[in-house]
Amino acid sequence: MMSYPTQRPRRLRRSETIRRLVRETHLSPSNLIEPLFVCTGEGVRRPIAAMPGCFQLSVDELVRECRDLTSLGISGVILFGLPDSKDPEGAAAADPQGPVATALTALRREYPSLSLWADVCLCEYTDHGHCGPLTTGPDGRTDVDNDRALPRLANAAVAYAQAGADVVAPSDMMDGRVGVIRRALDDAGRTDVVIVSYAAKYASGFYGPFRDAAGSAPAFGDRRGYQMDPANGREALREVALDLDEGADIVMVKPALAYLDVVYQVKTRFGVPVAAYNVSGEYAMIKAAAANGWLDESRIMIETLFCIRRAGADIILTYFAKAAARLLA
Ligand code: PBG
Repeated sequence: MMSYPTQRPRRLRRSETIRRLVRETHLSPSNLIEPLFVCTGEGVRRPIAAMPGCFQLSVDELVRECRDLTSLGISGVILFGLPDSKDPEGAAAADPQGPVATALTALRREYPSLSLWADVCLCEYTDHGHCGPLTTGPDGRTDVDNDRALPRLANAAVAYAQAGADVVAPSDMMDGRVGVIRRALDDAGRTDVVIVSYAAKYASGFYGPFRDAAGSAPAFGDRRGYQMDPANGREALREVALDLDEGADIVMVKPALAYLDVVYQVKTRFGVPVAAYNVSGEYAMIKAAAANGWLDESRIMIETLFCIRRAGADIILTYFAKAAARLLA
């Protein structure tokens, strides 16, 4: 190996032109998906306290918001619903008249080429805030009933597909849900609908602001009985293998920043399209520090997104999508 003074790596850093030529990773609005919160009503644009710049939007406002996103070249949006009523089973998740289904139909009509993703989970629809119906196990403990959640998740996925979603993204972490959803979509004649599974979804404190935004905080306990332990990396690879086996087209790692090793391993091991979710807490940290004048928001935003791409994510779900696309333009 030759070294200094023959080798001078700084030569390739001296101007933006040369840096651009040797850049290994690229970031474009087409890599980005914007998460949006849909509520009922009309003309609603309710700010979310811990996520400055994000709103709960009624369908009409959501349609308007997506005009900017499409003109900026952002590939798609993922929708989360705020229903008017909740019950122990989360029945409203599959309501074809619910906010998500209504929004999907409106967006499909207005923006034929925008990729429409529907998050599939029950926690926004159950009155206890867990990701499936509850049961009391033989040991007397309350738990989410995995196998009773599955048909409900499948019904929701089919309802979203029929309303206009081209991607469904199960985020519940129940065992076997990808296979059950794939079969239900196929039986409904929707072999065309893509499944992005939240394959490695960790039980993370970084979801705090989201749970206020989506009204989905569990009323008791936590999600550690179904979401993954942050201490585990190898288990993520097992989860990904299972979901791919069941028919997932794209796998997701969530959160992104504290889990870039997982993103990297999934990408190198499986070589399939990988998405990473730059979650609400990661967004809130940057926003809060920037509001205090402690960090340069634009710079950190772009740096963060580049690093998620460098780790191996093809797709990034981020509340920064619109702001980043503006900066990249
Ligand atoms: C629903 C869901 C959550 C997020 C995405 N889908 C919340 C959770 O699991 O508690 C979090 C997204 C974010 O924090 O930005 N299960």
